[in-house]
Amino acid sequence: MVTVVFGARGNVGRHVAAGLIERDEQIRTTSREPGAGDFPTGAHVVTADLERPETLPAALEGAERVFLYAVPDGVDGFVKAARDAGVRQVVLLSSGAVTPGDTADNPIARMHARVESAIEESGLSWTFIRPGMFATNALWWWQKSIREKGIVRMPYPEARTAPVHERDLAALAVTALTEPGHGGRVYPVAGPEASTLRQQVRDIGTALGREIPLEVVSVDQARAGLGETMPAIGVEAVLAGWRAGTEAPPEVSTLVEEITGRPGRTFAQWAKDHVTDFR
Ligand SMILES: NC(=O)c1ccc[n+]([C@@H]2O[C@H](COP(=O)([O-])OP(=O)(O)OC[C@H]3O[C@@H](n4cnc5c(N)ncnc54)[C@H](OP(=O)(O)O)[C@@H]3O)[C@@H](O)[C@H]2O)c1
Repeated sequence: MVTVVFGARGNVGRHVAAGLIERDEQIRTTSREPGAGDFPTGAHVVTADLERPETLPAALEGAERVFLYAVPDGVDGFVKAARDAGVRQVVLLSSGAVTPGDTADNPIARMHARVESAIEESGLSWTFIRPGMFATNALWWWQKSIREKGIVRMPYPEARTAPVHERDLAALAVTALTEPGHGGRVYPVAGPEASTLRQQVRDIGTALGREIPLEVVSVDQARAGLGETMPAIGVEAVLAGWRAGTEAPPEVSTLVEEITGRPGRTFAQWAKDHVTDFR
């Protein structure tokens, strides 16, 4: 049974591909640039662009299961190609921003909701993984500053968040793809514990073996700094998420352990796993 993994050099997709290979599943992975390298070892990579439906039949030929990133502009073409190819199950990496009644003013929620609806209406079996903030966002926020200046600047050091490790999202996807009982299920998922942004910077420092100074800056200064590494839509989402983390404790989640049998990884673990990214 062939499983197609879209985005196999993505933060989550690469671990979905690796997890399926570990389970001896037959997989095909896709990229818009298969020559770019940096794919999981042992992955067979084919060209596919969800925004160019003509690239999809060859990528999906003979496949029964798909791990999918949410690309709204291509979703109708994807649904048609998947049904034509005989795909039976889609596990979608969606977003926790998709909550009932909460999509109108939120472009990130709208784009994921659009993809969820198309897949729900397709007749294919589906599982929607709806994560909160990724731990990998710390690369956008802090990698450049830690590497180049050895410091982190932020507006809300005491904001609490519960970031989720990309390997946990991948483990959820692999379980949903390979074990029965996940069709029609929505998995809202956050990290297993909440910590302040100050603590998260400390965790990176501990992994690096040195203290990282933290300077409190205004929201406008933070907006400008984040804008160097992130698109505007992401910057505003991050600032809103941080601000919310100063007002109420974030939701934590035990879902990863419930579904995969392995506890969710903490941010401190993520920092250790990514220490070379900050050197
Ligand atoms: N960051 C967060 O806090 C957060 C929270 C909730 C949900 N999310 C959602 O999670 C997703 C990001 O996950 P990630 O960090 O693993 O992503 P990532 O590292 O940016 O990788 C995205 C992958 O998607 C593939 N892709 C993008 N456009 C494509 C297209 N038109 N056709 C085919 N493949 C395409 C890319 O493959 P190629 O480049 O190789 O073609 C790439 O491997 C987004 O949908 C985001 O909204 C993020």
